[in-house]
Amino acid sequence: MGLFLQVLTVLVITVSLQGWVPRGCLEEERIALLHLKDSLNYPNGTSLPSWRIAHANCCDWEGIECNSSTGRVTVLYLWSARNRELGDWYLNVSLFLPFQQLNYLSLSDNRIAGWVEKKGGYELQKLSNLEYLYLEDNSFNNSILSFVEGLPSLKSLYLGYNRLEGSIDLKG
Ligand SMILES: *[C@@H]1O[C@H](CO)[C@@H](O)[C@H](O)[C@H]1NC(C)=O
Ligand SMILES: *[C@@H]1O[C@H](CO)[C@@H](O)[C@H](O)[C@H]1NC(C)=O
Ligand SMILES: *[C@@H]1O[C@H](CO)[C@@H](O)[C@H](O)[C@H]1NC(C)=O
Ligand SMILES: *[C@@H]1O[C@H](CO)[C@@H](O)[C@H](O)[C@H]1NC(C)=O
Repeated sequence: MGLFLQVLTVLVITVSLQGWVPRGCLEEERIALLHLKDSLNYPNGTSLPSWRIAHANCCDWEGIECNSSTGRVTVLYLWSARNRELGDWYLNVSLFLPFQQLNYLSLSDNRIAGWVEKKGGYELQKLSNLEYLYLEDNSFNNSILSFVEGLPSLKSLYLGYNRLEGSIDLKG
């Protein structure tokens, strides 16, 4: 009986501990992060060494935080992540669309000169949880403004040290 109780206790503890273990990242988001890494490092950069397919839990990779119940990426912190000698970077907006729960995105100081998106645009509507966007210290011009207007939940936008000119009129 004593042994049975001990085994039962161990089982109960194991089960309840598993309930607390945060979920690892989702396969589709891990693959999307690796595509993002390839774009950031194109053609021969060396950034984000912890972002490796062999290291399966992408929530543990540098610059990433996940929601512990869904396992989805909520924070992408890529401040100054890119090797400067790679020159200008054109962001491919599609690379960010898999991150449905993304709330915080920092891309400051990465020599971003602009972006490419699918014809027709409107893709940004899908980033419906993005509230904080840090784009300081890049090479954006005024056309970034019409672009970020497509983000439905944006609360804070940081655009210092770019190439914006004239007076700025943002809706909302
Ligand atoms: C990438 O290649 C270029 C040209 O060969 C070289 O100048 C540069 O240092 C390389 N960058 C890295 C991060 O290895
Ligand atoms: C995690 O995701 C769940 C489900 O979408 C949500 O209810 C919860 O508020 C999120 N937690 C945090 C800390 O964002
Ligand atoms: C942008 O990324 C998407 C998804 O990875 C890819 O299908 C598309 O070809 C890329 N577009 C450009 C212009 O690189
Ligand atoms: C501003 O940036 C956009 C997007 O990269 C580019 O298409 C456009 O040519 C730039 N405009 C000027 C005046 O440099």
